[in-house]
Amino acid sequence: MHNVVEKAEGKLGLLMPGLGAVATTLIAGVEAVKKDLAQPVGSLTQMGSIRLGKRTENRYPKIKEFVPLADLNDIVFGGWDVYSDNVFEAAMKAKVLEPMMLHAVKAELEAIKPMKAVFDKAYIANLDGDHIKEAATKADLAKALMDDIENFKEANDCARLVMVWCGSTEKYIEESEVHQSIEVFEAGLQNNDPAIAPSMIYAYAAIKLGVPFMNGAPNLTCDIPALIELAKQTDTPIGGKDFKTGQTLMKTILAPGLHARALGVKGWFSSNILGNRDGLVLDAPENFKTKEVSKLSVLDEIFRPESNPELYGDMYHKVRINYYPPHGDNKESWDNIDIFGWLGYQMQIKINFLCRDSILAAPLVLDLALFSDLAKRAGMSGIQEWLSFYFKSPQTAEGLNPEHDIFKQLIKLQNTLRHMMGEDLITHLGMDYYQDLVEAM
Ligand SMILES: NC(=O)c1ccc[n+]([C@@H]2O[C@H](COP(=O)([O-])OP(=O)(O)OC[C@H]3O[C@@H](n4cnc5c(N)ncnc54)[C@H](O)[C@@H]3O)[C@@H](O)[C@H]2O)c1
Repeated sequence: MHNVVEKAEGKLGLLMPGLGAVATTLIAGVEAVKKDLAQPVGSLTQMGSIRLGKRTENRYPKIKEFVPLADLNDIVFGGWDVYSDNVFEAAMKAKVLEPMMLHAVKAELEAIKPMKAVFDKAYIANLDGDHIKEAATKADLAKALMDDIENFKEANDCARLVMVWCGSTEKYIEESEVHQSIEVFEAGLQNNDPAIAPSMIYAYAAIKLGVPFMNGAPNLTCDIPALIELAKQTDTPIGGKDFKTGQTLMKTILAPGLHARALGVKGWFSSNILGNRDGLVLDAPENFKTKEVSKLSVLDEIFRPESNPELYGDMYHKVRINYYPPHGDNKESWDNIDIFGWLGYQMQIKINFLCRDSILAAPLVLDLALFSDLAKRAGMSGIQEWLSFYFKSPQTAEGLNPEHDIFKQLIKLQNTLRHMMGEDLITHLGMDYYQDLVEAM
């Protein structure tokens, strides 16, 4: 595969449905980094390095020097929102970054104005913007989005595009008949099937045009057979769901460690308070349900209670999110973990994470944009499981359990990059460093 990775020449358009806290923090951040005002901390593509070859070779290049990624100076931002605020106004309202930081990149942010959204209040009860497209059918709305995408590409002289869903979490829906094939899905667009959510219309528009699509929210969106099939047909990388930040990030760091030491877990109670617009949307029970499903699967996949019933068979796992406006984007989470060790003796771990949601999410949007563009140039299409590293509820092929352990996810990501570039994969076996021993065996 390594001989077919095309270079990242020309501009890359990054289109985001939803120019809220996460998207504006990303855009302002990239502009600040370009002016040397701050560092892109938390972004593996910008700050991370990768080991190549044997440990004795001492080769640890930066990832961005190893694989051909788009340069930050070549990214052009665009997006849609149900509110007409430009990115500067939206970022000021989101109150994630200091006004001083935002003023330093004001001109760049003010120039980005959202396109009219495809939106349906039936999917997000707690929002009521009016910057919305009107059309008779969902098929017309998809066509309008495709026109937006093509016009954006031309107006900004982009060589390539990617789309990352940064919109609010939609209400919970399950896969149904209309999601099963491209034909029924397209018929559903024509006759306004209620099971086709707005996020699916964006995903359809992007995938139809061969634009990589990554889903940062827990909505089903592109995780349906129809859009997986379309992605294969149009050679488009897709991935999701739900950026892995905050409490779930901590869970997938800590749980693999407890599991690795064969320590038991009796209960894991997670509660959160947050006061941003995301928190407001999640205050509606049908939207919280979507988030809850995404957050709950994580521990079961790591602990595998069915193969370890003595340690994890009775584990009680609960997740709560409460809307608490005074905290704004500064989410506070508490985890109480009841664990047990040798002879069943009990212990407790308490985590109180005072995190900043969008500060943790923004670098993930950047990495997903750059890596999905890389995947496209490497000729990889369909579900990009190697990007599970970034998601709470990774999209996988049907019948395949997702990998949640962040360390295994990282190994998979790094090996995929090595594979793309024709470098040896690293198995961490390391027997060859002890050649005498190997020969004696
Ligand atoms: N911040 C995090 O750490 C984090 C982690 C995981 C997932 N997420 C998810 O990322 C998404 C964005 O989070 P946020 O904090 O920026 O939320 P936000 O509420 O600040 O921004 C979301 C924006 O999407 C817009 N929107 C909603 N539906 C839309 C549509 N159909 N078309 C266009 N725009 C639409 C809203 O008007 C809003 O401006 C949410 O779904 C959230 O659950 C965030």
